[in-house]
Amino acid sequence: MTRWLARGEASLPDGQRWLSPAEAARAAALAYPKRRTEYLLRRLAAKHAAAAVTGRSAEPAALAGVQVLNAPDGAPYVLIDGVAAGFDVSVADRAGWAVCVVGRGVGCDLELVEPRSPAFVRDFLTGAEQRFAAGSDAAANLIWSAKESALKVLRTGLRRDTRSVEVTAGASGADGWGALTVRVTEGSPMTGWWRREGAFVFTVVTAEPDVAPICLDQRDVLATAAPQHSWLSPR
Ligand SMILES: CC(C)(COP(=O)(O)OP(=O)(O)OC[C@H]1O[C@@H](n2cnc3c(N)ncnc32)[C@H](O)[C@@H]1OP(=O)(O)O)[C@@H](O)C(=O)NCCC(=O)NCCS
Repeated sequence: MTRWLARGEASLPDGQRWLSPAEAARAAALAYPKRRTEYLLRRLAAKHAAAAVTGRSAEPAALAGVQVLNAPDGAPYVLIDGVAAGFDVSVADRAGWAVCVVGRGVGCDLELVEPRSPAFVRDFLTGAEQRFAAGSDAAANLIWSAKESALKVLRTGLRRDTRSVEVTAGASGADGWGALTVRVTEGSPMTGWWRREGAFVFTVVTAEPDVAPICLDQRDVLATAAPQHSWLSPR
């Protein structure tokens, strides 16, 4: 079962007591404040999620023992008191908000529902996806977000042609979740879920079929979240 939570920039703790030395060093190496803040926000969401699923305190000293590190390909992994956590995480941020999902073989992404240029849609979406997204910012961002989630499960990110995974999205249900299917050129399809949360669209893709993700806390926090428009830049 996949679980998730969101955290906003306003929740970032003061100081560095909640970071491990390796995380603090990585943050310090990020020269641009925007990049550093995004990195820290993703750490905060992932540490809170890992603490929640393991019953650990979210006090700064306890969070420092939950390390969210990166494999050479960029994919995140968690050590708890130096030991592999035994679950996978995926993190994403957009406009001052970060999400983390916890599960097995998971990828997630968060996007604003915002205009995408015709060139973006033409270059990065397949023909079928372009038809689905035609005239709808919500649909275009949903497709793009699900692609990013899928490319995180595959651990390639955007090193891979984004048209080599093709997303099909169903309508959302009473619980707000809609089902996703992601066809992968060379392998078995993956499945996932999407939901609209206020200004955002949030997607989760898993290597194996799974029930809709469970929110760990603060349901609706993203639905009412104000995007930090200072962060609005093309990505
Ligand atoms: C994975 C990727 C699509 C993320 O997109 P993004 O819009 O930049 O950022 P998001 O907020 O959605 O996600 C960021 C998180 O993706 C995760 N991620 C990065 N590479 C990943 C990979 N290969 N597999 C799975 N997850 C990955 C990381 O956890 C990262 O957060 P962290 O560095 O704080 O741990 C993008 O970073 C990418 O394509 N990376 C691979 C190519 C690459 O390394 N390029 C060099 C930088 S230009």
